[in-house]
Amino acid sequence: MKQRIAVLTGAGVSAESGLGTYRDNGGLWDNYDPMVVASAEGWARNPGLVLDFYNMQRAKLRDTRPNEAHRLIAQLEERYTVDVITQNVDNLHERAGSTHVVHLHGEATKVRPENTCNDYDGFSEKYVIDIGYDEVHLGDKAPNGAQYRPHIVFFGEAVPKIERAVELVAAADIVLIVGTSLQVYPAAGLYRYARPEAPIYLIDPADVQIFDSRVHHIKRVATEGMREFVGLLK
Ligand code: OAD
Repeated sequence: MKQRIAVLTGAGVSAESGLGTYRDNGGLWDNYDPMVVASAEGWARNPGLVLDFYNMQRAKLRDTRPNEAHRLIAQLEERYTVDVITQNVDNLHERAGSTHVVHLHGEATKVRPENTCNDYDGFSEKYVIDIGYDEVHLGDKAPNGAQYRPHIVFFGEAVPKIERAVELVAAADIVLIVGTSLQVYPAAGLYRYARPEAPIYLIDPADVQIFDSRVHHIKRVATEGMREFVGLLK
């Protein structure tokens, strides 16, 4: 049976594709207030601004390509059972060929009626639709009459996929973390569910705060770090 690798990724894995990270200098949250464009409160106050922000993200994504790090992660599937658990809302892992991707924070290319996928309906994704790189505007309504909203986990909302992610990390023989500042919970705590004997690798050029003596930090950008990681597996 193949060994299992759980790969936990953040914005850093997509940085070399040209998508900015959130919290680095000049990152997205330097230019936009997440409480305005990516929070439950922001959506309630000014949904038009939120829709515009994600229209922009979608347009940027259309013109972005996966990089070698995404591809090397996808190629791990040749020898391992790989579960990618990403905080990213981009689709670059899928476009690089990864076949098992859990999007903890939602997906930029999907929308849903604003009154669905919540604690009342058990977070059912039945009404989620894939709009690709199209725009959504105020007044674009679903057949049930509700405004369409981005299929994104806004700040202040539950993270329904976290339980599945915990199971996958706990089942892994190797845990690999790539390009995340580990500042946003519950995603940031996921690596703590790694089995005691599972090695944990971290690829990030910065000093990420991670408190586990097992962590092997490959202090490089994602493409170089992935090359080194693949070499270590041999
Ligand atoms: P952050 O912007 O917080 O962190 C990005 C990480 O990537 C940092 O640790 C950087 O050092 C690292 N990094 C930068 N360039 C890199 C490169 N070329 N290769 C590898 N690593 C690099 O992004 P996340 O941790 O992903 O949520 O942020 C978590 C969540 O906060 C996001 O999913 C988003 C945001 O608010 C939502 O929008 C719901």
